[in-house]
Amino acid sequence: MTVPSAGRLITVAGIDGAGKSTLAAALHSALNNAGHDAVLIGKHTTEVPADAALSAYLDSLNAIVYRRDQTVGAACGEHYWLFALAAWYSLQDRLVIQPALKAGTHVILDNSHHKIIARYAANPSVPPGLARQVFAHLTSADLVLFLRISPGEALRRKGGFTPLEAGRTGHTGDAFVSYQDDVSARLREQAGQEGWVPIDVTGLTPGSVLDQALASLAPRLGFT
Ligand SMILES: Nc1ncnc2c1ncn2[C@@H]1O[C@H](COP(=O)(O)OP(=O)(O)O)[C@@H](O)[C@H]1O
Ligand SMILES: [Mg+2]
Repeated sequence: MTVPSAGRLITVAGIDGAGKSTLAAALHSALNNAGHDAVLIGKHTTEVPADAALSAYLDSLNAIVYRRDQTVGAACGEHYWLFALAAWYSLQDRLVIQPALKAGTHVILDNSHHKIIARYAANPSVPPGLARQVFAHLTSADLVLFLRISPGEALRRKGGFTPLEAGRTGHTGDAFVSYQDDVSARLREQAGQEGWVPIDVTGLTPGSVLDQALASLAPRLGFT
C-alpha cells in the first residue's frame, strides 16, 4: 500500500479587512482548478469526515464560540474567550485539519489563530504570552500569507465593523484604526517565524493578490 505524501497547510494572516477570506477562497479554487486536492477550512467548518457524532460535537462547540448572543461576550470575560477559542482551534486542528493533511489533501485555513494571538498581545488584561502558549500545540502552517494593509484602507474596504473589530474601544472609525494599528504591530512581531511571507496588498485587486500568493506558494511548497 502506498502512503500518500502529506498535504500542506497554507494559511492567511492580516488585520480585519485585509482580504484574508477573499484570498483563501480564491486560492482554494485556483489549486483545485490546477488539479490539486485542496480543502478550504474556516471558522464555520464543523464537518468531521465520516463521523456524525464528532461533527455534531464540533458544531455545538462552534455555536458556543461563534454563534452566541453578542451580549454574553463581555459578561464571560477575556480569559474565558481565550480558552473557548483555544478549545475550538484544538479540536478543528485535531479532528479536521490533521486528518486531511495525513490523507494528502492540502488545507487552506482562513482565520488562523495568529490574529487571536495578536489581539491578546494588544490586551493588557491577559498575561503576555498566555495566548501564545494555548495555541502552541497547533499544527504549524507550511506557509502563512501575511496580507499587509493600513487599517484605514481596510476600513474603507469593509465599510463597517463589529465592536470586537475595534477591540471594544469605541464605535468610531478612529477606534477601529487605532486598535487595528496595535493588532497589526503584534502580527508583525510574529512575521519573523518560519513560513511567513508578507504581501503588501495596498491598492491590489483580488486577482493580483491571488497571483502574488500563487507565486510565493509554488516554489516554497514545490507546487507546479
Ligand atoms: N484586493 C481587494 N481589493 C478591494 N477590496 C477587497 C480586496 N480583497 C477583499 N476585498 C473586500 O474587502 C472586504 C474585506 O475582505 P475579507 O476577505 O472579508 O477580509 P478579511 O477576511 O481579512 O477580514 C470585503 O468586502 C471584500 O470583498
Ligand atoms: Mg475573514
